[in-house]
Order: sequence, then C-alpha cells, then structure tokens
Amino acid sequence: MKTSLKTTSRLMLVLGLLFAVSSCCEKKETPATASPDATINTIMQRKSVRSYTGDAIPDDIMESLLRAAMAAPSGMDIRPWHLVVLTDKSKYAEAFEGNFNMEKFMQSGAVVVFCADTTVTRPPRENPNAPAETKPNPMWRDDMGACTENFLIAAEAYGLGAVWTACYPFQNTMEPVRKYLNLPGNVVPYAIVPVGYPAGENTPKDKWDTTRVHYNRW
Ligand SMILES: Cc1cc2nc3c(=O)[nH]c(=O)nc-3n(C[C@H](O)[C@H](O)[C@H](O)COP(=O)(O)O)c2cc1C
Repeated sequence: MKTSLKTTSRLMLVLGLLFAVSSCCEKKETPATASPDATINTIMQRKSVRSYTGDAIPDDIMESLLRAAMAAPSGMDIRPWHLVVLTDKSKYAEAFEGNFNMEKFMQSGAVVVFCADTTVTRPPRENPNAPAETKPNPMWRDDMGACTENFLIAAEAYGLGAVWTACYPFQNTMEPVRKYLNLPGNVVPYAIVPVGYPAGENTPKDKWDTTRVHYNRW
C-alpha cells in the first residue's frame, strides 16, 4: 500500500513536470481580437451618416466608442485628446452657434467634441533630468485624426451612424465651442461628431483607386 502511494505520487510529479515544460515551450499564439474579414468589413462599411432617429446612445456603448477613440496611435505617445460628450440639446444653439451642421446635431443621440491639447509638458529631450517645460506639440493634428477615425469605425461596428464635421481650423465654428466649453487657451476644438441610430439607408462609397497606388517609386 505504502509503495503504491509512493509510486503514484512520483508519477504525478513527473506528469506535473512534463506539463510545466510543455506549456512553457508551447508556441505562443497571437491573441485574435477579430477576424481580419470582420475588421476590414467594418472599415469598408463606414460612411458618413447625416440623419438619425434621435434615440440616445446607451452609456456602455458610448464608453466603448470613446475607448476605441483613445486607442489611436499618437506621436511620442502624447495622446493630446480630450473628448467632450454633449447630450443636452437645449444647449446646442449656444455651443454650435452658426454651425451649418446644426440639424444633424439636433437629430443625433449625442455630439462628441474632439478637443486637442496642443501643448506637451515634459523635460527637454536633450536633458531628461531638467524640470519639465511646456512646448507646442507639432503632431497633435495627426493624433486627433486617428482618434476621430477610430471613433467613426467603432460607431460603424455598433450599427450606429456618425459624421465627422469640421471645426478646426475654422474660427467661426471653433469660437462658440471654445466659449461654451470654457476651453483653456492651449486646447483646440478639433472636430464635432454627431452620432446616433441611422434614419434611412446609407451606403459606403467605393474609393478604391489604383491610380493612387505607387510601388517602389511615384
Ligand atoms: C476634416 C473633415 C471635415 C468634414 N466636415 C464635414 C461637415 O462639416 N459636414 C458634413 O456633413 N460632413 C463633413 N465631413 C464628411 C465628408 O464630407 C465625408 O467624409 C466625405 O464626403 C466622404 O464620405 P464618407 O465619409 O461617406 O466616405 C468632413 C470630413 C472630414 C474628414
């Protein structure tokens, strides 16, 4: 009896070791977030949607859209974005005074103002131990474009409709937003995106153009 117990525990030890070795040497699979087909399809289906049912966007879906927006790439990983979600339609006349997209804002479930901190505060590159200084961030526009596009693609993935509407660099559009949101001087309202449940049919455009593709040289 004693011998058989000893044999069993030895066997278990050997099996345990074998399992540990095999799992540490196992080829690590890259975690698949989605099939490439699904991702490409969502990108290809994205289109500007300009009329909505007016239904509100559930909070968890809005958070998911904002998370997608903030997952964008960012030069030097500065992440200049601040995203302001507006849902109180009674304030839109003031916030977006004179904006020719007003009807879309009023119909939408929410309006997101993509704001950018145009500065970056960090020690000078040549002297990382020196006190931090605030400088212009030359890449904020690039980052904001990526952030806004991520949001639009995520909206498409949820079957929502959205459209990027111009804000920066048009002073007459930026000024009422700046004033209403009380933005600090270094923060620019970059884009205004109404998002909602689409009313009617919307189809994506086919933009594939082989004349815009160049291999190895222009
Ligand atoms: C920087 C920028 C500004 C835009 N401004 C507006 C706008 O003010 N109003 C609007 O209805 N659409 C606006 N659009 C959406 C474009 O008109 C739209 O993306 C373009 O016609 C291509 O159509 P698609 O988005 O359906 O592919 C803007 C898009 C970008 C990228």
